[in-house]
Amino acid sequence: QKDGFRFFMEKEIYEQSDVVSDCMLGRLKDEEILFDEIDKSLIDGINEIKICACGTSYHAGLTSSYLFERLAKVKCNVEIASEFRYKEPLLTKDTLFIVISQSGETADTLEALKMAKNAGLKSLVICNVDNSSMTRTANNTILTRAGIEKGVASTKAFSTQTVVLWMLALYFAKAKNVISKEKLQSEIHALREVPKSLKVLDKVHEKARRLSKRYLHGHGFFFIGRDVFFPLALEGALKLKEISYLHAEGYPAGEMKHGPIALADPELFTIALMPENLLYDKIKSNVEELSARDSTICAISPLDFELADDFIKTCKTDHYMLEFFEMLVVLQLLSMEISIRLGNDVDMPRNLAKSVTVE
Ligand code: M6R
Repeated sequence: QKDGFRFFMEKEIYEQSDVVSDCMLGRLKDEEILFDEIDKSLIDGINEIKICACGTSYHAGLTSSYLFERLAKVKCNVEIASEFRYKEPLLTKDTLFIVISQSGETADTLEALKMAKNAGLKSLVICNVDNSSMTRTANNTILTRAGIEKGVASTKAFSTQTVVLWMLALYFAKAKNVISKEKLQSEIHALREVPKSLKVLDKVHEKARRLSKRYLHGHGFFFIGRDVFFPLALEGALKLKEISYLHAEGYPAGEMKHGPIALADPELFTIALMPENLLYDKIKSNVEELSARDSTICAISPLDFELADDFIKTCKTDHYMLEFFEMLVVLQLLSMEISIRLGNDVDMPRNLAKSVTVE
């Protein structure tokens, strides 16, 4: 049931705040993170994390690689499962192998998991579907508790995956004793604020609806961000591609001058993710360069930015991950509104299936 929403995707965007609360239920304590469902010895002897996934789940993995290294001081690399399978990867036993999947059925991710298991690695699946092929294969599972996701374009699966991975980074950090008590408490405090950051505000939805009119034609879109906002840019671009069929690319903002900026002109729309709490001056100067080349700029930020042609203001927070979730909602709404305006089937976009069970 769509419960009065126009599309399942819209309903699922609005559900994010609640499902993320469910996802954290019983797992957050004042000074620690609990994952009772995983082996206590899972991280013993682990010096490295390898993450494999596809599509949006890959973007959640990429986001978490910044958190694992920053918070838990553990090496983390992330690969697209279809690439991993055939590259003859070197796997060492001190690596924890994590796969991320909404469905638990994606063929390439499942195969990557089997390869890691066969090589004797400890494995963990972060999944939304209990008793799926992946949860049956892995040694350990953390369920994301997002509820059934119907829209082909993944929304609430991504937010819950990202929250689980953020909690897992802190779980590692505490177990390895590499995080101070104060820092852990402040991270847990921020985690508790995530449901608020994911609440859809009427004024933000209305702004996305109005802006969608401006972005129906043109050469395409750049989504740019730095640090965790780079995978978020990839996710914003993927959402738009999937349901609007417009050309969009996500880039790390610092890469623009290494090639992509050559495309800049007024018909090239740049969606700039400009958080206040992480590398603001760096991204600002990247966006200024694009503006100087006449790209049309849509800034998403809590701070006013005078060069923006369009602007979506997010709320002020004191943690970059809270800005991340606020901007996620903006990107999801923007792509959905553009898709609706184009008359597309938002929930069942052409050429796509909800679950990719063949390679
Ligand atoms: O079920 P999975 O998370 O393994 O699916 C992976 C991708 O197929 C999936 O995220 C896909 O990219 C979505 N349609 C994105 O919205």
